[in-house]
Amino acid sequence: MIKVKKTIVLLPGDGIGPEVVAAAAAVLRDCATELGHEFSLEEHAVGGTAIDGNGNPLPEETLRACREADAVLLGAVGGPRWDALPLDGRPESGLLRLRKELNLYINLRPIRLREALRGLSPLAPGRRRNIDLEIVRELAGGIYFGEHRTERRNGHEKAFDVETYSTPEVERVARFAFGRSVARRKGLTSVDKANVLATSVLWRKTVEQVAGDFPDVALGHMYVDNAAMQLVLAPEQFDVLLTSNMFGDILSDAAAGLVGSIGLIPSMSCGDPSTGGAASGQEGTPLFEPIHGSAPQLAGKDCACPIGAMLSATMLLREAFGLGTEADWIEAALDRALVEGYRTADLAEAGSTVVGCSEFTERVREEMRRSVRQFEPYGWGV
Ligand code: IPM
Ligand code: MN
Repeated sequence: MIKVKKTIVLLPGDGIGPEVVAAAAAVLRDCATELGHEFSLEEHAVGGTAIDGNGNPLPEETLRACREADAVLLGAVGGPRWDALPLDGRPESGLLRLRKELNLYINLRPIRLREALRGLSPLAPGRRRNIDLEIVRELAGGIYFGEHRTERRNGHEKAFDVETYSTPEVERVARFAFGRSVARRKGLTSVDKANVLATSVLWRKTVEQVAGDFPDVALGHMYVDNAAMQLVLAPEQFDVLLTSNMFGDILSDAAAGLVGSIGLIPSMSCGDPSTGGAASGQEGTPLFEPIHGSAPQLAGKDCACPIGAMLSATMLLREAFGLGTEADWIEAALDRALVEGYRTADLAEAGSTVVGCSEFTERVREEMRRSVRQFEPYGWGV
């Protein structure tokens, strides 16, 4: 097996961020020690914690470390403590700036119903036979990065949020989505609101043009309102969903609900990975993070679900470092812990053993150790 030497920046952030990042870091460390890789894990401040520390949600020193790293693993940012701040000074603005500075215009969110958790889907059994889709969300443009302004006129306030998209911005993320789809079931649904929005008319036209280079992919277009309903009624129809920044934010939380808990979903944000990756260092450092928020009400209680963060770590291994076997090993261990019935509170079912974040993590690590020993004598293969 190849051995790699990599630097990973950890950005625990706020709320439950530090607890779930600690869990993900533990499995990354195990991966290194068991299999002879060298991972140097460096922790830096982001979000509200960084505001408290030095008044900036994305300190220069953090940004520099991220630029120099091979990959970044982030927990979550935000919380009621900072909600009164102006938008451009909030914890969330640190994350948005980080995405922009690293040119992370692609965000990939895999949504899969795990076998052990089938019973947690709110869908009737007939409707959830095989939920396995990927959301490709544009991450560096759209309404998130347009002008946000509030003005006072004639005694009342008026607010603006501007959505813009250019052809190249749509094209580059669309290419990535087509590429994912080619490697999967060759379906692509592009989501827009082309019956109302100019940005969506451009979006649809551009996606149609890119489609010419991917004749094997069955492309469909869907208005976002219909897409929300179709996700709930018949999620099996979707292979890859391509969305703008804001539509992707909304649909990915809805899709997470379908597979049991938002605590389960990882994500990768990157620039152009087709040139060798995210791992090649040619584009911005790829960033991996669970899609859940900082869940302030759960923070400090050791009850958060670390699975989204752990799966972000396995996505990091697979997509950024090319360590697919290692990622499979960790995920298989995680699934065995679930099959044995160990669950954080959000995943509890009748008969399961509810454990905290750190105990669940220990169970996964134990399964990892057990399977390493079991497989080693037979040669590696999970
Ligand atoms: C997400 C989050 C972020 C977003 C927030 C924290 C800025 O909700 O990654 O989905 O809206 O992109
Ligand atoms: Mn979100």
